[in-house]
Amino acid sequence: MSAVAGMAASATLPEAGMTLDVQRIREDFPVLRQQVHGKPLVYLDNAATSQKPKAVVEAMERYYLTGNANVHRGIHVLSEQATEAFEGARATVARFFNVGDVREIVFVRGATEGINLVAHSFARPRLTVGDEILISEMEHHSNIVPWQMICQETGARLRVVPINDDGELRLDEFERLLSPRTRLVSIVHVSNALGTINPVKQVIRMAHERGVPVLVDGAQAAPHLPVDVQSLDCDFYVCSGHKLFGPTGIGVVFGKARHLEAMPPYQGGGDMILSVTFEKTIYNEAPLKFEAGTPHIAGAIGLGAAIDYISRVGLDRIAAYEGELLTYAADAISTISGVRIIGTAKEKAGILSFVLNGVHAHDIGTILDQEGIAIRTGHHCAQPVLQRFSVPATARASVAFYNTRDEIDSLVKAIHKATELFG
Ligand code: ALA
Repeated sequence: MSAVAGMAASATLPEAGMTLDVQRIREDFPVLRQQVHGKPLVYLDNAATSQKPKAVVEAMERYYLTGNANVHRGIHVLSEQATEAFEGARATVARFFNVGDVREIVFVRGATEGINLVAHSFARPRLTVGDEILISEMEHHSNIVPWQMICQETGARLRVVPINDDGELRLDEFERLLSPRTRLVSIVHVSNALGTINPVKQVIRMAHERGVPVLVDGAQAAPHLPVDVQSLDCDFYVCSGHKLFGPTGIGVVFGKARHLEAMPPYQGGGDMILSVTFEKTIYNEAPLKFEAGTPHIAGAIGLGAAIDYISRVGLDRIAAYEGELLTYAADAISTISGVRIIGTAKEKAGILSFVLNGVHAHDIGTILDQEGIAIRTGHHCAQPVLQRFSVPATARASVAFYNTRDEIDSLVKAIHKATELFG
């Protein structure tokens, strides 16, 4: 391992098999140790972006301070070390998602760019007038708008699988909407507005039985659940580094090798070619074919460090701990008079959206902020699903494995305060 890639594993992490020692974990996240408006910060906006452990910042700092060079280009030592660190991060990502072949991992800016890449390079060339793309009613705008754009260009139709009143996917409707014209299913793994965990394995199986490929948007799932793309058998899986305790500006597309090989490049430029003349360009192989220009090298290294960190904590333990925290929060919040929880699926991860009778979500957010509590309010870039529940906005608390029951107690107390102020 190069000096750039090598990172000291945090000494504060518990060994595998032990229960989560959240207080020790919090020591690795200096940002959590501060006061906001004179109150201890309670960070419950993890679905918007998660906080970064020191190991991530240190790995990026080490790259910039001791090993900064471009990748895949130079024969000098720093360039070789940077390439080793960058490709090492790709291998780390591949292991994390149980990807069989590291060449199936493409670095992009985030989940949004990942979906756009698949829309442009995989879907668009396959679509003609009357073909259909199938999404669900609980999608983030990033899994709606790219498909609308592609449909507009090709004459294809966007079809939407409805959800029930708990915010669960209607599998009967999904089956009905899978038609001989369906060319792709693109579905969110965990809803950013509701927290619903979709039965993506079943969705993929049903789609594959009809020969339809499936893209899974894993932006909100990867930080909370173990994800195994071989077991899921998805055709594409996308996620964002910054929601996974890594830096912004880096994300990942997993694509099955046979798809990536057959797909044209998304963008043209350096690094994605084997040779260029004015008459003809021969493209590089995947994944480099999809990585035009100098990539976000520090971002990939930081993402690798984040994945190393959470892998040591253990996704199974994270899922179990957060599940308990979410149930604790939902039980407490649902007893507050006037509260309606939006998204009551049986299988949920990370997210608690709610509205409060007579109080606008933004006012809840402002009152909570005064108490040092950070949540997101608004439509969460998922306007259609809020329309489904006839609300323009919700207040959304979203947890990570460094949150505590005491912090949930502070949240509940602050919501009570909001009801008193406006009640
Ligand atoms: N997609 C992010 C969220 O849900 C920004 O807040």
